[in-house]
Amino acid sequence: MMKLKIIGTLLITLNLIWFHKVNMLIRILLTGIFHWLWSWWSPMSISLLRVAEKKILSCLKTAYRGCYVDIGPIVGSADKIWTIALNEESPKTPLVLLHGLGSGVALWCLNLDALAAERPVYAIDLLGFGRSSRPVFSSDPLEAEKQLVKAVEEWRKEMQIKKFILLGHSMGGFLAASYAIEYPERVNHLILADPWGFPERPKDVVLKQNIPFVVRAIAYVMQPFNPFWAIRAAGPWGQALIERMRPDLVRKFSPVLEDPSVVSQYIFQCNAQSPTGEGAFHTMMSGMGWAKNPMLKRIHLLNTTVPITLLYGGRSWIDNSAGEKIRDRRSGYVNVQMISGAGHHVYADKSDVFNRYVNEACIMFDKVGTTEKRDSLGVDSD
Ligand SMILES: *[C@@H]1O[C@H](CO)[C@@H](O)[C@H](O)[C@H]1NC(C)=O
Repeated sequence: MMKLKIIGTLLITLNLIWFHKVNMLIRILLTGIFHWLWSWWSPMSISLLRVAEKKILSCLKTAYRGCYVDIGPIVGSADKIWTIALNEESPKTPLVLLHGLGSGVALWCLNLDALAAERPVYAIDLLGFGRSSRPVFSSDPLEAEKQLVKAVEEWRKEMQIKKFILLGHSMGGFLAASYAIEYPERVNHLILADPWGFPERPKDVVLKQNIPFVVRAIAYVMQPFNPFWAIRAAGPWGQALIERMRPDLVRKFSPVLEDPSVVSQYIFQCNAQSPTGEGAFHTMMSGMGWAKNPMLKRIHLLNTTVPITLLYGGRSWIDNSAGEKIRDRRSGYVNVQMISGAGHHVYADKSDVFNRYVNEACIMFDKVGTTEKRDSLGVDSD
């Protein structure tokens, strides 16, 4: 908790000192040096990422198919989306999974069997992440968001999926909501797992706290870098760094994995490559915890016929008040659930409870004509 608070304070202060010209110069200089060092320092390898992913997914009982979906020149010149598909033969409405920052398809390993039992499930590596292509995104926050969402839509077209249930975790939840606003006719149910980027950034948050100079100085130096810079900077020690910093992340998966360290290997390889998706996140964020264009301000644009289920981790750092606000303001179906004992990685922390909630949400509107009866279901305030 203490560590989180310090990191939180650090991130809040990211925008504290604004010496524009000096800042720009340092930014350009450090980024240049950083990329040059990175090119020979980092032991990243696309084939090691593939191996780590395969090792993790070998714990699945359901057969899966992995493939690249060619979505063409969306952001780069030839973008490809890495896709894992399960139970494709099922005639039920498919479920599509969007991971959070720094993650990828393999970290759904505790969910895929349960979620694919009744319906097709597709997990994708978002454009700029995991094994998908890594084109450079726009430096405009709304445009970068649009590009990430467009990639999902182009993927859907290529897959010839008419309508699906869309589940996003953290940043994936932010993008899932953005997708649903843009393409409501495609979304049967929007499921947001501890979504990032919903609440607005409080204006007085920095002024209220007495932040020591050292913390401000560190935050100032860190500012030019994307969130996972330390992992990449650590090069050969990146994987060990993940294990030291987040032993809990690795532990979450230990019940199903023979060698849980493969999780840190996977996360390292996901983030050691050219961080273009992470750059897009950096563009969209305002002090890590907040989005420059918060989703709460825009969620009213989402067609009220699209049902929303929000699953929050009871002890997550994400501000879950956004869920209540959506429920209070929205006339359509909104179900907010708090999963007690779960942190931000709610899908892994309490995978059984999470899977049950998701499956219940999937069934709820997966019958022809039931979306019209939405109002009779009312709002579940449980
Ligand atoms: C919302 O969706 C319904 C069903 O798809 C559609 O008939 C309606 O026109 C949409 N409303 C708006 C405001 O787009």
